[in-house]
Amino acid sequence: MHDFSFKRGKLYCENVSVASLAKKHGSPLYVYSHTTLTRNFEQLDDALSPVDHLVCYSPKANSNLAVLRTLANAGSGFDIVSGGELRRVIAAGGDPSKCVFAGVGKSEEEIELALKKGIYAFNAESEPELIRINKVARLLKKKAPIAVRVNPNVDAKTHAKITTGTYDNKFGIAFEEIEGVYERTAKLKHLHLRGLQMHIGSQLTEIGPFEKAANKIVPLAKRLAEKHGIEFFSIGGGVGIAYESALESGDAKWWRSPKRKNVLTPAKYAAKLVPLLKPLGLRILVEPGRFIAGNAGILITRVEYVKQTGVKNFVIVDAAMNDLARPALYDSFHEIVPLTRKAGDHRKKNQISSDVVGPICESGDYFCKNRPLPKVGEGDYLALLSAGAYGFVMASNYNVRPFPAEVLVKGSQAEVVRKRQPIKQLWASESVPKWLE
Ligand code: LLP
Repeated sequence: MHDFSFKRGKLYCENVSVASLAKKHGSPLYVYSHTTLTRNFEQLDDALSPVDHLVCYSPKANSNLAVLRTLANAGSGFDIVSGGELRRVIAAGGDPSKCVFAGVGKSEEEIELALKKGIYAFNAESEPELIRINKVARLLKKKAPIAVRVNPNVDAKTHAKITTGTYDNKFGIAFEEIEGVYERTAKLKHLHLRGLQMHIGSQLTEIGPFEKAANKIVPLAKRLAEKHGIEFFSIGGGVGIAYESALESGDAKWWRSPKRKNVLTPAKYAAKLVPLLKPLGLRILVEPGRFIAGNAGILITRVEYVKQTGVKNFVIVDAAMNDLARPALYDSFHEIVPLTRKAGDHRKKNQISSDVVGPICESGDYFCKNRPLPKVGEGDYLALLSAGAYGFVMASNYNVRPFPAEVLVKGSQAEVVRKRQPIKQLWASESVPKWLE
């Protein structure tokens, strides 16, 4: 459920016409819905209400300050992966004592910062990391709160590049070794064993792998609670979203018959997991990124040219793989719709098999291939849907292209929450050595 829909043929974000935003702010432009962000958070939060829990949004999915503030206001904690993310969360008004710090490569500086800010727990991923955290905590005369990430060796059945819970992946410590690690960690004087964490992958569209992993890990969490007094178990993030027919709440059928994948809802997720988790009596943490932000954002782009080659109909747009990298990186699907629909657009005879491509000098710079789309021409705007998670955050300046602007909409209000990057900023930190003059 989200707040992008067609009204009288025009795409709206909440009560704001998306075309009016494109005209005012130019393109490429990310547009986010405050109501969708908040609703997604609340749905998950409510579904977990039978257990003591904390939803820790993953800023890696979308770390715009206004998005973080929206979630902090809703009561969210944060699942950070760098010192930079911690600073951003604090800058946005987030509470460090509701932050968990994940990642396999935490530097001494990052550990020091997190200890000074008083985070809730480090999700440690190796024994060398535990030794390092202990050392930094000793120097600061503190006790570091720790959860160890267990790798349950369960296949999440998602894209290979976002599978994290098998022994082929760099993440966590093998299930069989965990209890030994807790024994040794308990002897490190500057650590306080507070929890256990897992995360098996991202964009899971079925409950099965979550259940399988939870069934395997819950008895372990129970033993660790008895022996080491841990107080929380984090089941990670990974709840998938519908990328196909993302306009399900609007009049999507004009576009094509919805082929909706079996997507996890918070209710389905909680119905299976709460009965497994509740008997533990531990605080449950979840770390959703995509579920909260994915369908809360779209990327607007303008058609520059239509190039017909006899073989292909290339729709060349002003957004590119540097603005939204997911199709190039993971072959991922983003639904593409014109901002203004015309009568009959949904008819096959009015559609043309198209490749929507960006201006970057790589053949991987495409948003879709051979997809039936209504005919569009120079100057028309298109929206790439479900681009709120892993969209802007993965943008780069490749081909010396500035970062796009971002707008947040709430009801009838719309505000630029990130200005389009001024072009000179792209080389502002560079210099030419004197000896080249
Ligand atoms: N917790 C941990 C430890 C993670 O590594 C991740 C995501 C999350 C939580 C949040 O997962 P989510 O709820 O968003 O599935 N760039 C990729 C996704 C990378 C996910 C990385 N880790 C994409 O665009 O699909």
